[in-house]
Amino acid sequence: MRTSIIHGRLYLDAIPSSKHLWQVEDDGAVITEDDRIVEVAPTRQVLQSGNSLGHVIDVEGRAVVPGFIDCHTHLPFAGWRSDEYVARLMGTSYESISRRKGGIARSSEQWAEASDDQIMEFTEQLAREALAWGTTVLEMKSGYGLTVAQEQRALAIIQALAARLPQPLVATGLFLHAVPPHSTDAQWLSQVKTELLPQSLHAGLISAVDAFIERTAFSPQQVLSVFTDLSGHVPIRLHTNQFSQMGGIDLAVQLRARSVEHVECLSPKEMDLLATHGIAAVVMPGAAFYRSAHAYAPARAIVDKGIRLALATDLNPGSSPVGNLPTVMALAVNLMDITPEEALAGVTREAAYVLGLEGHYGSIRPGFLGNLVVLDCPDIADIPYRIGHNPVKTVIIHGQPVL
Ligand code: NIG
Ligand code: FE
Repeated sequence: MRTSIIHGRLYLDAIPSSKHLWQVEDDGAVITEDDRIVEVAPTRQVLQSGNSLGHVIDVEGRAVVPGFIDCHTHLPFAGWRSDEYVARLMGTSYESISRRKGGIARSSEQWAEASDDQIMEFTEQLAREALAWGTTVLEMKSGYGLTVAQEQRALAIIQALAARLPQPLVATGLFLHAVPPHSTDAQWLSQVKTELLPQSLHAGLISAVDAFIERTAFSPQQVLSVFTDLSGHVPIRLHTNQFSQMGGIDLAVQLRARSVEHVECLSPKEMDLLATHGIAAVVMPGAAFYRSAHAYAPARAIVDKGIRLALATDLNPGSSPVGNLPTVMALAVNLMDITPEEALAGVTREAAYVLGLEGHYGSIRPGFLGNLVVLDCPDIADIPYRIGHNPVKTVIIHGQPVL
């Protein structure tokens, strides 16, 4: 099937060396054939060519951007934890809630009690909400299972959701999320290393691995003991420097990680290491927004140092219950001092890189998959400017208008 989007203000591609200035075509057309973009040109030229346009969508001067990519969520999960949110508003810290078997352990209980259908229905609704706000590729991860069987169940649920949802899903194995309540660190590390990781990699159920480095979770040495043989074979992502600096950045260098994520506390020296070793930073302003300290990652400095900066929701019931990327972009621009163009690059081109999808998603170029979002306005500045407003008019995935 051929689809032509005409009279669009096309945001084609972020140009990394120019601080994410976008290459813009003011009155452009994008033509998709089946799932791919086959032509990008001025509308005038396309109309004069006499070639068949197929199904025509005239967007009348509105902005057309690459479909948003949420490269870091904690979907699937089984329910919310708003009572913990209220406890935090009253002064209890996120870390002390975790220590009292709230937090991840609590979500793990909810997970074990819920049926597959309940989790699928709950998660599908969140993914569809994100779709309405322009998320056209969605990363999901395991992490609330905390036993071998439940973590495998999480990966099976992600696979089943992929068959139900319009968005392509990318699965990450976050097997090192928290020490399971009924096991010791050593037992769990060994089970992950000898069973969960090799089995899920062999079955093709995950395309990356992740670990949470934190005082309440795992140390860099523990993560190294599990990931050491994976370096260079599978993309390694690390939740690190969220609350404390424990050497996660050195570990990322040692493991040749693709990305470090959260990085709310990050020193200039650590940033230099990321820049030197080409490691991307994924920042999630939602998580800092809901914390009393409001310690945002140093996104401005990250971009200025030439480090790839991706933005994501971190959608989860504990630290970041926000599930849509326009809101995340608004938080990032207004609270982290980055530009609307840099924010757009963070949820398109850079997010694609983090997921290993560079060259396929994240830009409007011939050969790329036809994932596009038509906004209700001509300029992307409206996204951070009108926080709370959904700026998405039309969503196209693999060449098909889905909303
Ligand atoms: O990314 N940092 C670790 N994990 C999640 C929070 C998980 C939860 O509280 O349920 C995060 O913020
Ligand atoms: Fe996270």
